[in-house]
Amino acid sequence: MQGKRPPLITNSYEVHLLHMQQVRFSSATVDYYYNSPVSLLPQICTNDNIVFITDSNVAAAHPGIFAGKTTLVITAGENSKTLATIERLCNELLEAEATRQTWLVGVGGGVVSDITGFVAAVYMRGIKCGFVPTTLLAMVDAAIGGKNGVNAGPHKNIIGTIRQPDFLLFDPTLLSSLPDGEWSNGFAEVIKYACIFDAALFAELASHDIGYYQTNAEALNKIIRTCADMKNKTVAEDEHEKGIRKLLNFGHTAGHAIETTYGLPHGVAVGIGMVIAATMSVEKCGLANDVPTKLKDLLHRYGLPDTHTIDTDKIMALLKADKKRTKEHIDYILLEQIGKGVICPLTFSEIESALKRHEGNS
Ligand SMILES: NC(=O)c1ccc[n+]([C@@H]2O[C@H](COP(=O)([O-])OP(=O)(O)OC[C@H]3O[C@@H](n4cnc5c(N)ncnc54)[C@H](O)[C@@H]3O)[C@@H](O)[C@H]2O)c1
Repeated sequence: MQGKRPPLITNSYEVHLLHMQQVRFSSATVDYYYNSPVSLLPQICTNDNIVFITDSNVAAAHPGIFAGKTTLVITAGENSKTLATIERLCNELLEAEATRQTWLVGVGGGVVSDITGFVAAVYMRGIKCGFVPTTLLAMVDAAIGGKNGVNAGPHKNIIGTIRQPDFLLFDPTLLSSLPDGEWSNGFAEVIKYACIFDAALFAELASHDIGYYQTNAEALNKIIRTCADMKNKTVAEDEHEKGIRKLLNFGHTAGHAIETTYGLPHGVAVGIGMVIAATMSVEKCGLANDVPTKLKDLLHRYGLPDTHTIDTDKIMALLKADKKRTKEHIDYILLEQIGKGVICPLTFSEIESALKRHEGNS
């Protein structure tokens, strides 16, 4: 898509203050700079004591951001989400003489924001941090909401904190280098919001495709802002996931287990998880029969599969260790209709038979 999209943004900090929105969570207020160039960073951080964390792909794709700046680079990919990486980065911060005044700025996808948020929460018991998401998935979801964490073996995001960053800066031009597969991953989360909150968004997505958003900066900005607003509103109501925030897990319960077991990209696994949940919703919540097919069509439109061969026993073993489980059940997110997600406690045997049905269909 490089070069296809007309630039919408200017370099004036004053102009960008107009795009800045402060979001109040129970724990903190966060500044959101929408549709703003990454060159604003020196003005946003209140001093020039900035340390960047990024990954190897983003460092290579956008070297200008990091030129002459202290930059800690992790290997791109989910395998970097470990406590060993956190320890290494803390040691590198010490070597770089980072202090409590240092701003830690994570520039990258969800892996970078999860790691940066965690390091910022624990280094010297907490330093200021900001995120510049560089994947669609991180812009609409991963960088928002304050959850961070790393994996322990097959257990996704099992070690971490909930701590808001001080700011987020959204520069959609950074997506120009994003591979198409990563656009698909991001759209899985956009489709998730449409399913649980926004039937109009579902209809809009059904009449466009990735190419449309790659070449239409206004539509892309609108969709990023719409999704970020939905996530912010949900998290602001329920920062610690006691209730409504659970809706954001639509497609993620089975999705995470499938992602870990089969090494699938996050968005691909979430898409399959959404199909499993939508199929269960027909039986459990009276969802109209044709919705799972509409969802599958939408996933295909955005380059996402709707199924994968799964081994129910392996998936169930991971679900039983899920952090959202209680002794008896998991709060599963189902749909009553497109645009209306609901929290539905399901027993392990109900989930197991739904997975077995999917196994049979895949
Ligand atoms: N904390 C949360 O609330 C939350 C929510 C959803 C997902 N997540 C986490 O986010 C992660 C997935 O995020 P992701 O899909 O952004 O993955 P990612 O960070 O691994 O990025 C995907 C790939 O795109 C590359 N990349 C990133 N930006 C690029 C750019 N502009 N140009 C070229 N390549 C680029 C990365 O190097 C990587 O190879 C998972 O670890 C997931 O658990 C967290």
